Amino acid sequence: MRTAIYPGSFDPFTNGHLDLVHRAAKLFDHVIVAVAKSEGKGPLFSLDERLALIRQSIQGEPNVTADAFDGLLVNYVDQQEGQAVIRGLRAVSDFEFEFQMALMNRKLNERVETIFMMPKDTYTFLSSRIVKEIARLGGDVSAFVPSHVGVALREKLGPIAPKSS
Ligand code: PNS
Repeated sequence: MRTAIYPGSFDPFTNGHLDLVHRAAKLFDHVIVAVAKSEGKGPLFSLDERLALIRQSIQGEPNVTADAFDGLLVNYVDQQEGQAVIRGLRAVSDFEFEFQMALMNRKLNERVETIFMMPKDTYTFLSSRIVKEIARLGGDVSAFVPSHVGVALREKLGPIAPKSS
């Protein structure tokens, strides 16, 4: 049984995250989307809200589950008897931080491998932070997030602003 852990803040879950989940689900027997509490990042959505949005997004994936974790990622991977951590790489700018994190996680636990996966090219510009900014300014995010995430964003941040002519 090969289990991969796909960790992140997922505040909120985007189509880019979903694309990565689909790809990882083809390679592993079980993929766990692991939502970090990330309280220090002042998330817009609570842990429970983020989990619920992810669970709705992965309904069509029989070998994918979602869970929350707190504390060190490598400890969570051990606890789940996982073999690998999946992280998305969108651009070279992601690399430095991801490289540091992967090597630190290896230092903390030799057994845990990090696998970097690239999302579909149309999602390389996408991030939760940018999606929130667009939604906050009344922009339309329907192309970037699953529809129920778009609804949740509008509930939190207000409706789409009418186009100015
Ligand atoms: O979506 P994010 O915010 O880029 O995800 C970062 C995350 C949650 C994967 C990372 O901050 C993490 O693993 N946090 C758990 C605490 C931990 O293990 N820190 C040491 C990492 S080297």
